[in-house]
Amino acid sequence: MSQTLVIFGATGDLARRLLIPALHRLHEHGRLPEDLSILPYGRKPFTIGEYLAEIESEDGEFARRFPEYVQGGLEMEGVCSLAERIQGSALFYLALPPGLFGQAAQLLADCELHDETLGYRRLVVEKPFGNDLASAQTLNRQVSEHWRESQIYRIDHYLGKETVQNILVFRFANALFEPIWNRNYIDHVQITAAEASGMEGRAGYYDESGALRDMMQNHMMQLLALTAMEPPASLFQDDLRTEKVKALKSLRLVSPEESSACATRGQYEGYLQEEGVAPDSRTETYAAVRLYVDNWRWSGVPFYLRTGKRLSADRTEIAIKFKAPPMRLFRETPLQRLEPNRLLFELKPKEQMILEAQAKAVGLEMRPRTVALTAPYRNGTETSAGAYENLIMDAIEGDRTHFLRFDEVEQAWQALDPILRAWASDARPVPLYAPGSDGPEEADLLWPGASEWRALG
Ligand code: BG6
Repeated sequence: MSQTLVIFGATGDLARRLLIPALHRLHEHGRLPEDLSILPYGRKPFTIGEYLAEIESEDGEFARRFPEYVQGGLEMEGVCSLAERIQGSALFYLALPPGLFGQAAQLLADCELHDETLGYRRLVVEKPFGNDLASAQTLNRQVSEHWRESQIYRIDHYLGKETVQNILVFRFANALFEPIWNRNYIDHVQITAAEASGMEGRAGYYDESGALRDMMQNHMMQLLALTAMEPPASLFQDDLRTEKVKALKSLRLVSPEESSACATRGQYEGYLQEEGVAPDSRTETYAAVRLYVDNWRWSGVPFYLRTGKRLSADRTEIAIKFKAPPMRLFRETPLQRLEPNRLLFELKPKEQMILEAQAKAVGLEMRPRTVALTAPYRNGTETSAGAYENLIMDAIEGDRTHFLRFDEVEQAWQALDPILRAWASDARPVPLYAPGSDGPEEADLLWPGASEWRALG
């Protein structure tokens, strides 16, 4: 049986920057099935030679996987012409602007390309899936009119990261943490995805999207779900996704009026001067929210999430702060309070886990100090595949564990939709922050007492 990976938007930014390089690496490591051919589909008039030159793959074995370049847009004639070129199974990778997913899925079905008589037929779509709750539901109705949920692979590339998959293993392969992974022992959870870079030529997309849609609704909500979920019955397919949905479903819903107390946005100074940004844009380049997972495990434990561009450093981490132990034993020491334990999953800049604990400080006094038990995710020279490589392989092999089910997407929108609506109708100026800072001061107000945002640098 032959397999064809059809790339819609083959000349676009996503295909060139992420998809093709990932396929190239998979090919070089011998991981792609022998019978897999790659069919680029795009509007630009290229011969296959020109296309391969464009993606810098004209030489070598990898080029042999490309039988031809198919020129076409989102119209019946072009899309249906794919039918005669596909003999068996096929994956349709929609590396397209998000506004075109629905139309592409519809056209493929109109051309009977979703029909699985000859082999599997799968649709791979990138984020963002919808622009808010209502548009995500509309898009899903449109796609699922012809495609079964089991044929749809919604990508959130964070789920392809090994350090993200590690959260599951760390939580559920150790006896040590699970008993204290709840409101009795945990003070709060803080999830950060900070980037030092700005628009990188993507302002056209970003200005329509903003930090809440670009990072919070997908990547950060997934990090939250993996941190908060109950142990799944197995690590396969729907068991894992079902538990994530349950955690997301437990998120406390706020009204747009209430949302000002639990969400902050910001825009970096100079954003309006970026090429491709509307001169009066109110798009947020920073977003911070405080959420509650209202279930038995987490009731009363705040989850603080923040993300932004042009911040002081690249830092992606989940920081779990445990409750402070009683002070009594150390009452004769100069200490005002005991530092609580913290557990960190650092994804960026380093890939490591850190457990902060108290140990006796050197010297005659019986005084504690914080020590860090640090474990790098990788040892020495160990390397692993990137997120896209992992996800492409999963899609080829038909494993949907690390793809988003629609109800996950829906629940994440549900939780953030009131904030989007509140911001859309809030005429006050969007708070500004200096590029290279840790974000707008307003984000400190999310904390009931003194701010505990961790320093980024
Ligand atoms: C993407 C966002 O989904 O994730 C980008 O669209 C962001 O704006 C990127 O830069 C971050 O991914 P990573 O893997 O570098 O943390």
